[in-house]
Amino acid sequence: MKNFAVIGDPIKHSLSPLLHNWIFNQLEIDAHYSKIRVPQNELRSSIEKVRNGKLAGINITIPHKTKIMEYIDVVNPRAKLIGAINFIMPASGKVIGNNTDWYGFTLALKRNEIDVNKKEIILIGAGGVSKGIIFALKQQGVTRVHLFNRTFKKISELYDEFIHPHKITDLENVIHSDSIIINCTSVGMNAADSPIASHLLSKDQTIIDTIYNPVKTKLLVDAEGVGARTMIGLDMFIYQALASQDLWFGEDISNRVNFDDLKRYIESNLC
Ligand code: ATR
Repeated sequence: MKNFAVIGDPIKHSLSPLLHNWIFNQLEIDAHYSKIRVPQNELRSSIEKVRNGKLAGINITIPHKTKIMEYIDVVNPRAKLIGAINFIMPASGKVIGNNTDWYGFTLALKRNEIDVNKKEIILIGAGGVSKGIIFALKQQGVTRVHLFNRTFKKISELYDEFIHPHKITDLENVIHSDSIIINCTSVGMNAADSPIASHLLSKDQTIIDTIYNPVKTKLLVDAEGVGARTMIGLDMFIYQALASQDLWFGEDISNRVNFDDLKRYIESNLC
């Protein structure tokens, strides 16, 4: 049996085991997926479990997607460009890292028929998820990303021709009545919190959350309340996981999975 795991800290919120084990069960794959809380000082030793064959693959979640890169033998060139990885597997005695978040986000946009081409985007957060999404947005032809983060120093270094860093206090001056806004912070994992004050939301906006647990964050509930278009984090979460399976098994697992059944299964476990 092959063993896989997601590592992070905190890890309780992660639904990756639920998702991956459902797929293994449906497709009768002899494998098991678990979650392991790994503090930063144990990152290096957790990678060793892949090197010595105890784990056939790892997903990485909050807050390790950037830091872990220094312990990886070979980082995929695109993931290097992104600056974050959420995927690890062994290959030829080495540990390789990759990023499937950007692809998951791209497919989720497509599924939700959200077109960002030639649009300006407001993005809040500058962690590992944010980096993958910025890459996806550039691929999709956005003209500008207005980037906000609690810690300004993190985004001041990300300035380029697409990315305009802003102080978080400027948020209300940059948000317009038809803005597309993406939450890449962890604010909302606690159901009572939202990264955006509700009075800044309005019906012609598109509000995207990358948090999938809860399925509908306070931000999304507020956005729905004013009639805005919304995209939940679950679609991206499923697509990034399917892309991970394709890479781990070297075959087109994602095409053998019924997306709607899987989504319903996860939602039923969350409600
Ligand atoms: P992930 O892999 O999910 O991106 P991460 O790399 O730890 O996780 O990034 C978490 C993001 O959420 C960061 O942008 C973080 O802001 P800081 O850079 O200021 O730490 C943001 N975040 C976490 N808790 C927050 C809070 N209470 N208020 C505002 N932003 C928060």
